[in-house]
Amino acid sequence: MSRKILVTSALPYANGDLHIGHLLEYIQTDIWVRYQRLMGNQCQWVWADDAHGTPIMLRAQQEGITPEELIEKSKASHERDIAGFLLSPDNFHTTHSDENREMAELIYTRLDDAGLIIKKTIKQLYDAKENMFLPDRYVKGICPNCGTADQYGDNCESCSATYDATELKKPISQVSGTEPELRDSEQHFFALSEFNDMLKQWTAGPAVQEEVGNKLKEWLDTGLQNWDISRNAPYFGFEIPNAPGKYFYVWLDAPIGYIASHLNLTKRTGENFEDSWNPNSDVELYHFIGKDIINFHCLFWPALLEGAGFRKPTGVFCHGFVMLDDNKMSKSRGTFVTAATWLEHIKPEYLRYYYACKLNSGITDFNLNLDDFVTRVNADLVGKVVNIASRCAGFISKQFDGMLSEQYPQTMLADYEKLVNSKSVISDHYETREFGKAMREIMLLAEHANTYINDAEPWVKIKQEGNREEVQAICTVGLNYFRIIMTYLSPVLPELSAKTESFLNTTLSMAALDSPLVNHKIEKFKPLMTRIEPAQIEKLMAATAAQNQSAQAASAAASPSTASHEPVKDEIDIGDFEKIDLRIADIIDAKPVEGADKLIELTLDIGIETRTVFAGIKAAYDPSDLIGRQTVMVANLKPRKMRFGVSSGMVLAAGPGGSDLFILSPDAGAQAGMRAK
Ligand code: MSP
Ligand code: ZN
Repeated sequence: MSRKILVTSALPYANGDLHIGHLLEYIQTDIWVRYQRLMGNQCQWVWADDAHGTPIMLRAQQEGITPEELIEKSKASHERDIAGFLLSPDNFHTTHSDENREMAELIYTRLDDAGLIIKKTIKQLYDAKENMFLPDRYVKGICPNCGTADQYGDNCESCSATYDATELKKPISQVSGTEPELRDSEQHFFALSEFNDMLKQWTAGPAVQEEVGNKLKEWLDTGLQNWDISRNAPYFGFEIPNAPGKYFYVWLDAPIGYIASHLNLTKRTGENFEDSWNPNSDVELYHFIGKDIINFHCLFWPALLEGAGFRKPTGVFCHGFVMLDDNKMSKSRGTFVTAATWLEHIKPEYLRYYYACKLNSGITDFNLNLDDFVTRVNADLVGKVVNIASRCAGFISKQFDGMLSEQYPQTMLADYEKLVNSKSVISDHYETREFGKAMREIMLLAEHANTYINDAEPWVKIKQEGNREEVQAICTVGLNYFRIIMTYLSPVLPELSAKTESFLNTTLSMAALDSPLVNHKIEKFKPLMTRIEPAQIEKLMAATAAQNQSAQAASAAASPSTASHEPVKDEIDIGDFEKIDLRIADIIDAKPVEGADKLIELTLDIGIETRTVFAGIKAAYDPSDLIGRQTVMVANLKPRKMRFGVSSGMVLAAGPGGSDLFILSPDAGAQAGMRAK
């Protein structure tokens, strides 16, 4: 019996390019989906762009276009990258669609009818200049917990405290640069707290990875709060039925976009839609997501579905984050590699294979080491896999007119069976998303095949009298191994598989492996895959650095939340300025601070003495890159006691914050201790 499976990947925001971080998830999904199809299951992948919300609205304003134009542009670019990376969704839709409006309204209305929508008036920050309520990330102010300036409205980068935007001291709207006021506003809340018990059970069950379940348990044990699912106009999204000026929060209609994409697909194919979504459905439903959006998929989403009378997911498959050479990808470091730039320099299958090698079913972060990438791909795909075919194909074409042996050599049949029987181990690894283990198994088979050919030495035998048939037999065995291996690799390498199909003149499928290819004509061999050259990596990273730099310059000029638009503070006189003792500092040591995600502990030499300073710049810098550099520090700032020690001074940095932060450095010739004037 073939299984019916519906799969989703998280919907990328429609205001940015796809990058190699996204691709980890999308390649993971694609491999799993292609594997299911290879096994003969009915597996559909429905996906879309996430088109709503404040960032998209503001971004369109900055670009001087409508949100509709912006999301259309993004969708075209995402679709190009999807095709470029050989991803095979059955549908790529958008959340700004009729289907999604219909589904969001249906779900909301059902929740409302069930008494699960609660209206409550709350106080929110309002930008009177721009006439808008401010989302958390569009307000900055002084942290109510530790007093650090310039913190976002949701959490503090210095002390990691989380709070409500209304608690910030001296809040400043990042949209207009003015001080927002508090205004009453009626919001619609989803009664999430009613689902606490259901979620406790559900997250402890097989639908959720154990480590994810454990994380969620802490929340569930404290008890869930009701969830604000409404936003005030102006907002780019869907207006809530019978609530003029109130819009669905983007995170309400985003996952509903999964359903809407499926609805849109069934309209096209004529398949039944409801069967997949009713609580007794026999269709398996899986969501691939990153660990940053666990709450939305493992708490809010199943509760919404249950509340509205829909089925819940069979499983949520969560993965960790991509690190590039052990660092977070960052535009300021010039390491933010977009899908499009990758494709200009390196073929997609190399990344697909490398990701497959490193992927497992866990949620730990994932390191893309570029040296290892080159070595691994060349050694495995070119050195081991393609090599099998290139060593056998020439003899078959030139000596035997493209014909494989009439019969499979009797003595090699048991070994053929053995390779075919590996199917079950490899399938299990694919099924459980242990792709790294699957790749290792497959490479063992490739090594085995190469050893066989090495030992059999067809190139020696062809020169000896009376060995023609044996050479044909050896190459027939070799090419059959190649066929088995490429069948197993086909979920990862769709293009190479297609080339293999043309070359072997046969369709690759699990079932076909039951009998070996014999008495069969193959096509002339053309090189299937070439080595990656380290120079390609250099070009990729150079292009990325250049592109990141210009993107940053453009966003600094356009974005309301960057330094150029930060309001100038009240005037001070020269006397005030003279009080600040700015000194050139040599950074003699820099290290991460255990227990503080955002801090780096700096040891600064200022000529007369050394200082310890805790700086909230971890998202922008790798500590080891800072050692040996110079910067400017405020040397007479009153020492501040922090959780991790005393910070004696402050280094100067500019930028909106997070990974977009730049420490100031003096020109060559400056010496530690010199006073800045
Ligand atoms: N729009 C939301 C998802 C809505 S789903 C109903 C969103 N979009 S996103 O563009 O920020 O991220 C899309 C997916 O890519 C998420 O699952 C996210 O975890 C994943 N990744 C984004 N950057 C990533 C890495 N650097 N590494 C691995 N996955 C990453 O969240
Ligand atoms: Zn703080």
